[in-house]
Amino acid sequence: MTDPLFNLGGKTALVSGASRGIGEAIAHLLAGHGAHVICTSRKIEGCEAVAGAIRDAGGSAEAHAVHVGDTAAIDALFETLDAAGRRVDILVNNAAANPYFGPAVDMTLDAYEKTVEVNLRGYFWTTVQAARRMKGHGGAIVNVASVNARRAAPGQLVYSMTKAGIVNMTEGFAKELAPLGVRVNAVLPGLTDTKFASALTGNPKIMDMMLRLIPLARMAQPGEIAPAVLFLASPAASYLTGAALPVDGGYLA
Ligand SMILES: NC(=O)c1ccc[n+]([C@@H]2O[C@H](COP(=O)([O-])OP(=O)(O)OC[C@H]3O[C@@H](n4cnc5c(N)ncnc54)[C@H](OP(=O)(O)O)[C@@H]3O)[C@@H](O)[C@H]2O)c1
Repeated sequence: MTDPLFNLGGKTALVSGASRGIGEAIAHLLAGHGAHVICTSRKIEGCEAVAGAIRDAGGSAEAHAVHVGDTAAIDALFETLDAAGRRVDILVNNAAANPYFGPAVDMTLDAYEKTVEVNLRGYFWTTVQAARRMKGHGGAIVNVASVNARRAAPGQLVYSMTKAGIVNMTEGFAKELAPLGVRVNAVLPGLTDTKFASALTGNPKIMDMMLRLIPLARMAQPGEIAPAVLFLASPAASYLTGAALPVDGGYLA
């Protein structure tokens, strides 16, 4: 039986970028603690597979294709959920873009806009749509940011900048939504073994340099990031809002 502090029974959790990596681990963990999970990403097949695996394990989940860089797609998702009588109690903004690696002075405006549209506007607009519906019954929002929010990484200036913006957005919404009973927190993952990080993890020279900066001397597995999200979304974190929790093997220490 789930400890009441971590019991999400009766709650609905929307997880963006749930088809693989950290989002997939979050979707499974929240479902395992009783939440009905709405899995979203751009490609429906991946989301269907994760939602199906959750159901096969005895949980409850559904899948929707949503590109978080497309505000009309975000609106359409919430309209679909409204029509189905689904109320989102927990929002995990996790899907992010990092289309460019290299000197910022060589970056195209197109790559800049894609990064900002997904990472900042996507998190912002999804939060707005969820928060409007949390009014009157409360909720919890968890934003997956990055250690880059605190320490800009070489070759990832704009991505790092958007992650810093997400932490500031978390603090702003925490203050604005507290009177509505909505808590807003962020998780700052360090280097994690996913497709997203493959440009770094696939390069032995970069890996060697990065591992020397991480006191635990290894990267995280997605399943090591998800528990922090569960904690922040659960009754165990009832007095926590506006926090940014690093899960980084000590990198920021
Ligand atoms: N891995 C790391 O080292 C690391 C470190 C710090 C922070 N993070 C953060 O952790 C989060 C998850 O990253 P990850 O490492 O788990 O990446 P990942 O394994 O590549 O997974 C990314 C997920 O997001 C979805 N996605 C990508 N772009 C999307 C968009 N525009 N709209 C909707 N869904 C989209 C992908 O599915 P589709 O392809 O179907 O859209 C996939 O489900 C991100 O916010 C990332 O910045 C990662």
